[in-house]
Amino acid sequence: MLDERSEVDTLREIYYLTDGDVGNWRKLLALGDCLDQQLKRKLLWVWPTSSNLDIFNQVLTTSGIQCILSVGCGSGLLEWLISTVGGRKVSIFGLEVDRNWWHSKYSVRSFIPLNFFEDANNVSQDFLKACCKGFSPCALLFCYFNNRGAFLEYLRVFQGKWLILIGPQPSLGIHTDPNPLQPQFPNEEWILRERLNWTDRNVVAFYQKIV
Ligand SMILES: C[S@@+](CC[C@H](N)C(=O)[O-])C[C@H]1O[C@@H](n2cnc3c(N)ncnc32)[C@H](O)[C@@H]1O
Repeated sequence: MLDERSEVDTLREIYYLTDGDVGNWRKLLALGDCLDQQLKRKLLWVWPTSSNLDIFNQVLTTSGIQCILSVGCGSGLLEWLISTVGGRKVSIFGLEVDRNWWHSKYSVRSFIPLNFFEDANNVSQDFLKACCKGFSPCALLFCYFNNRGAFLEYLRVFQGKWLILIGPQPSLGIHTDPNPLQPQFPNEEWILRERLNWTDRNVVAFYQKIV
C-alpha cells in the first residue's frame, strides 16, 4: 500500500500516466493495485484488469459498438482505460451532474470529455447527441449508477441498440440502480447478450434492444 505517499503525489503520477494519446495504462493498472480503497473509489468504482478490458473491447467490436455515452461517468478513468486499451477505436463521451464540483479544486481531473446534465432543459435525444459531438451514441454505459429515475429517463429517449451495465453481483449486497443482472427494465425490449465477470465480483452486462 502507498500509505506514506500523499494523495497529491499519487494523483500527479496518475495524471502523468494518462497524459497524451497513448499514456501508460499498464503502469496505471499496476499503480491502481497499490492504492488505498478511498482514493481508488474516488477515481473509479471498478478497477478492471487488462484481461477484463481486452474481453470487453472484443465484445464492443463484435457488437459493432463505436460510440458510447457513459452516464454518471465520474472521473471517466474507466472510460479512458477502455478506449486506450482498445486502441481508441471506440469514441467514449461522459455525462455528469454538478459542473461546479467537477471543475473545483477538490475533485479529481476528468479523463474524458465531460458533458453536464444541467446544460439541458430536459433529457432528450438531441441532448444525448450533443454530448457525443453530434453523433448518436449506439450504447449507453452505466457504471455503478444509482439513480433509478434518471436511468429510466435516459432509457426513454435513447435511440441506440445497446446498454452496458456495470456493477456488483446482486449477492454482494451493494445497491446500484440499475443492477447489471437485475435491471428491472420498464418493458421487454432489452435482452441480455453478454455477461462478463470482472474483478472483485463485478459484472458487465450487455443488453440489446430487440424491437
Ligand atoms: C457511484 S458514482 C459512479 C461513478 C463512475 N461511473 C465510476 O464507476 O467510478 C455515480 C455517478 O452518477 C452521477 N449521476 C447521478 N445522477 C446523474 C444524472 N442524472 N445524470 C448523470 N450523472 C448522474 C453522480 O454524480 C456520480 O458521479
